[in-house]
Amino acid sequence: MIITFATQKGGTGKTTLAIAFANYISAISERNINVFDFDYQKSFYQKWKEDEELDLPKLYDVETIGEEVEQPFSDFETILDLKDNDDINLFDLAGTLDAKYSDLLIYSDFIIIPFEYSDVSAKSTLVFVNFLGILESQSERIFIRSKYDKGYKYLNQEGMDAEIKKYGTLIKSPVFKRNCLQTIDTRKLTYEQKYAVKNSFNEIITCINENLDTNI
Ligand SMILES: Nc1ncnc2c1ncn2[C@@H]1O[C@H](COP(=O)(O)OP(=O)(O)O)[C@@H](O)[C@H]1O
Ligand SMILES: [Mg+2]
Repeated sequence: MIITFATQKGGTGKTTLAIAFANYISAISERNINVFDFDYQKSFYQKWKEDEELDLPKLYDVETIGEEVEQPFSDFETILDLKDNDDINLFDLAGTLDAKYSDLLIYSDFIIIPFEYSDVSAKSTLVFVNFLGILESQSERIFIRSKYDKGYKYLNQEGMDAEIKKYGTLIKSPVFKRNCLQTIDTRKLTYEQKYAVKNSFNEIITCINENLDTNI
């Protein structure tokens, strides 16, 4: 299966959530996990390389997809293979809409879309969803509130939530803004980090399992 972390805006927590999700799922799933870093900044991959120095076993492999490749999935079989195999294939994308992402965005089983309630982020989220519509993407959209500030009253929350629910599943539990998530690595989740993501991730996993009628 293919699970892609994407949205149109940088800095919303895609890579942080992708790392946390990969770590979380590797602890509870028997399946093989492969990560593909599709962002020209290569933050996931660089972190994973850096973490080789840690005295902990690696949980999964991370591959990069070259930016020089205009059509990374010109061999269409590749993407269908990733989709059809039992492995969990996680993609971390850049915060830009690019034609080279099209096939992946069309054929991912799930697109996990982290968002915030700032005006800019709200707008980009809707632009991204619209882009998926234009692509006629078949993927299930899963929206997750990222860097959510507990003490803040987001004036546009109600309106934004109602809009988002038209396009996919809105995960009830937000991932709160937490310092512990700023120092995440690719080899483990600390107790605190696990606590910060577990409610949201369990909801995501339930959503995936129900949708594919399987157990990941
Ligand atoms: N839940 C969170 N709480 C606090 N900081 C966060 C959280 N999620 C992400 N960040 C921080 O926000 C910044 C952008 O996150 P990142 O995951 O790189 O976003 P993206 O991949 O969408 O560009 C990073 O400095 C990261 O540490
Ligand atoms: Mg990123």
